[in-house]
Amino acid sequence: MTYEELMQKAIEVSKNSYSPYSKFAVGACVLAESGAVYQGCNFENGSIGLSICAERNAIGSAIANGEKRIKAIAIYSPNQDKCFPCGACRQVIHEFCETDEGFDVIVKDGDNIKVYTLAALLPESFTL
Ligand code: THU
Repeated sequence: MTYEELMQKAIEVSKNSYSPYSKFAVGACVLAESGAVYQGCNFENGSIGLSICAERNAIGSAIANGEKRIKAIAIYSPNQDKCFPCGACRQVIHEFCETDEGFDVIVKDGDNIKVYTLAALLPESFTL
């Protein structure tokens, strides 16, 4: 699967976002080490703090399907160019990638995609 195709899957799943409170839809698609891909969208709650990000939804799906490691994630919002993962999601990605330098975060920038390493987005990351 190319990164363009991974982004298409993030775009597709963003349409299922449940975001009536923020009206900020997000879709994410994870490429796992097996080569399989897993989609997730954000879903919110009337108890606002319970909202779940698209990235963690997609990663949870990968883990639930037996994946141990993830290699890349594409993230898309129709509301914002270059929709980067929030700090909490960056830390969750860190937990499941082999190295921060080897993990790619793919965002949409107009008609193009841009690729950043997790290391660039989460310097000096925390590991227990
Ligand atoms: N959101 C994501 O899904 N991913 C992020 O990385 C940032 C924020 C969601 C959470 C909430 O439903 C909405 O976007 C506005 O914060």
